[in-house]
Amino acid sequence: MAKELTLRGGGVLRGRFRVPGDKSISHRALILNALAVGEAHLTGLLDSEDLHATARCLGQLGVQIEPSRIIGRGGKFSAPDEPLDCGNSGTTIRLLMGLLAGQHFKVTLTGDRSLRGRPMARVAGPLSKLGALFEKGVSSAPLSMSGGAIVNQSVQSSVASAQVKTAVLLTAVQGEGLLEFIEPTTSRDHTERMMRAMGVVFEDEVLPDGRHRIRLGGPQRLKAVDVDVPGDISSAAFFIVAASILAGSDITICHLGVNPSRTGIIDALQKMGANITIMNMQTISGEPVADIRVRSAALHGVHIDGDLIPRMVDELPVLAVAMACATGRSTVRDALELRVKESDRIAGILKIVTAMGCAVTDTPEGFTIDGCDGRSTAAISIDATGDHRIAMAAVVAGLKSGDETRVSGGEAIASSFPQFMNLLEQIRA
Ligand code: S3P
Repeated sequence: MAKELTLRGGGVLRGRFRVPGDKSISHRALILNALAVGEAHLTGLLDSEDLHATARCLGQLGVQIEPSRIIGRGGKFSAPDEPLDCGNSGTTIRLLMGLLAGQHFKVTLTGDRSLRGRPMARVAGPLSKLGALFEKGVSSAPLSMSGGAIVNQSVQSSVASAQVKTAVLLTAVQGEGLLEFIEPTTSRDHTERMMRAMGVVFEDEVLPDGRHRIRLGGPQRLKAVDVDVPGDISSAAFFIVAASILAGSDITICHLGVNPSRTGIIDALQKMGANITIMNMQTISGEPVADIRVRSAALHGVHIDGDLIPRMVDELPVLAVAMACATGRSTVRDALELRVKESDRIAGILKIVTAMGCAVTDTPEGFTIDGCDGRSTAAISIDATGDHRIAMAAVVAGLKSGDETRVSGGEAIASSFPQFMNLLEQIRA
């Protein structure tokens, strides 16, 4: 149901709190344990629409999932009677494509309008090379496919995408032979960490030119593992930026995932002058976890490109809000991937920053923002176009505004962070 969010700017953020479980780790905790032998207990799993889509699809494949327990199928799933509906979730469809490329039945995967418009050839191409058969086009959902993994192949991905990497690894671990996978730079590595914890053996190295190579011989059995999912840094990012730009703010986000392949947002904000302290670092379920304290600070412009982009790709919309509040010019390059997320996020960023009253220009692979303190005196109205992260970034922009902000399409937030507005109001004084 369409939902318009309204808020008035101002106030400060204060308090100690957690954000919901990491979305990427939660999807993997379900999908990898579904493939494994044995039973796993999951704590801190994200409870949002994208995760409901993954759980529902796995249920159709015969997997038994209770809120905090999952029983693995030991490598063999049952054929679903109906198409698998992945909703709005790119991670669900792409990871399931990899999982099902190792199974010997026909299946159709589909999703909502946004998901049906997103590129799937980047996954279907490599999986075809590994023996999967796709009916008709492979460029977008709905996709009908059947498995038949014959590995012994080298796959080079042109994008640093953890979804592509994970799909390929899910097929390779079920197939016969040696897979070599190379990506242009290391994308988030939650799959590698969890597969290792499940007993999968593979070589993993960064080549002298910065590319990342994995070599894995299949088939291998995965042993189910319990997972304690840390808070999602991609959800925390909205609060990290909000606390940085609202003078007088002081927050601590506890039990947060700080995997180095995900902490680009902290590095970028620190380069801008943000006041962020990382405390109580520990390793939980193979993932780095910490508490982070954020106090408001005067920010200045920054240039972001190259390897930093995959380490913060989902955080760029809210980083753009911080850039609008900074002094001086900021630029983002090498971020073409933003065009093919839940919406064209460069277009979304342009709308938000323009509404904040700052000059912004789009470039083919990024954008430039001239910081202007970000304090709009006129009312802001943004259509989130079905994109959860554009909706939440627009809300953070609204916190700086001297007037009212309206965000239409706010229901999209439920994909990743249903409690976002409540939590924000709880910590805003
Ligand atoms: C994800 C990988 C990223 C990210 C997405 C989640 C994952 O996508 O944007 O929200 O869990 O593997 P790409 O793999 O397309 O970069």
